[in-house]
Amino acid sequence: MTTTAPGTAAGRLPDFPWDSLEAARARAAQHPGGLVDLSIGTPVDETPEVLRTALAAAGDSPGYPTALGTRELRAAAAGWLRRRLGVTVADPFGADPSVIPTVGSKELVALLPTLLGLHEGTVLIPEVAYPTYEVGAVLSGLAVRRTDTPPDDPAGVVLVWLNSPGNPHGRVLSDDELRTWVAWGRAHGVPVVADECYATLGWDVQPRSLLHPAVAGEDHTGLLAVHSLSKQSTAAGYRAGLLSGDPALVRQVWEVRRHLGLLVPGPVQAAMAAALADDAHVDAQRERYGARRERLAAAVRATGARIDHSEAGLYLWVTRDEDCWATVDWLAGLGIVPAPGSFYGPAGARHVRMALTATDERIDAAVQRLTAGDRGRH
Ligand SMILES: Cc1ncc(COP(=O)(O)O)c(C=O)c1O
Repeated sequence: MTTTAPGTAAGRLPDFPWDSLEAARARAAQHPGGLVDLSIGTPVDETPEVLRTALAAAGDSPGYPTALGTRELRAAAAGWLRRRLGVTVADPFGADPSVIPTVGSKELVALLPTLLGLHEGTVLIPEVAYPTYEVGAVLSGLAVRRTDTPPDDPAGVVLVWLNSPGNPHGRVLSDDELRTWVAWGRAHGVPVVADECYATLGWDVQPRSLLHPAVAGEDHTGLLAVHSLSKQSTAAGYRAGLLSGDPALVRQVWEVRRHLGLLVPGPVQAAMAAALADDAHVDAQRERYGARRERLAAAVRATGARIDHSEAGLYLWVTRDEDCWATVDWLAGLGIVPAPGSFYGPAGARHVRMALTATDERIDAAVQRLTAGDRGRH
């Protein structure tokens, strides 16, 4: 566990670490077969037609959209939650809405403590975590504590972030783990929020939503879930996410978002509604990622490296039982750039994260290099 002191503004934010990968990227770019950049999880396949058609059809958009989202979008979101995750939200059209759109999920993650009016206390985040949980806490003047289990002493804790399937390691929280957090949050009056933006990408394990009745029971008091269309619908450029769960908490967030003008553009809301009603494109993209995962995982293992967790999500969490920068260096020698695990917290320092978001051609290039005789080349 580590603790970040409370801060007040941008000066207190953690370093933006990606610049430190530049040397490895430059070295990898010298490979005769070109760079295979697996460091950033940005989708590269085409945005499916179902989204593009709906976006274009809604192009006439002279008026302001609402922070609440259109009825079509909220209905489609509620339908998607039920169909894909087995989650039934309270009336999405009620006075206290149970689901609203967000401008992608990153802004929601970063702003949630602020939107909930939290300015004192501690936010719990996973031991190895997507950096934006910390960013959002620090921006709001809160302290951060890394832990994967509920602390014995709840003093000062004002918010809990869970992430399942997890970035960077692809770990899925079990029903028991989720139930333990739900019980702890409710016992101490602390909201528990699950970032489930990789929910549709379960491989060896099917991820369970925090809002599923087997975890949450029949009501969502004190619980929120965050979802994103970026990966499942290959639409990171649209900036399309969802917040759902406890209607009282969703309402609080929505009311502040209206004042801030945090509005998903109308044409994007139309594209989201179409995407959330269509399972075929999500399944097709999932298959694409699954095939890349199989090929890349086999090649990584063939080198003697180990893959931990990675039972779901968009990344392989790879270790050679050495400092992550040594692994970065080894891969850069093969023209491959991963993300060092230390970007995600001290406990990640002996792993690297390899993203599946590269074209089939680039994944095949990586596979070929990892399995060819030049694997020790530096
Ligand atoms: C765990 C996690 N949460 C949230 C996000 C943000 O996704 P977006 O803003 O595209 O919805 C990401 C993006 O990679 C992520 O890995």
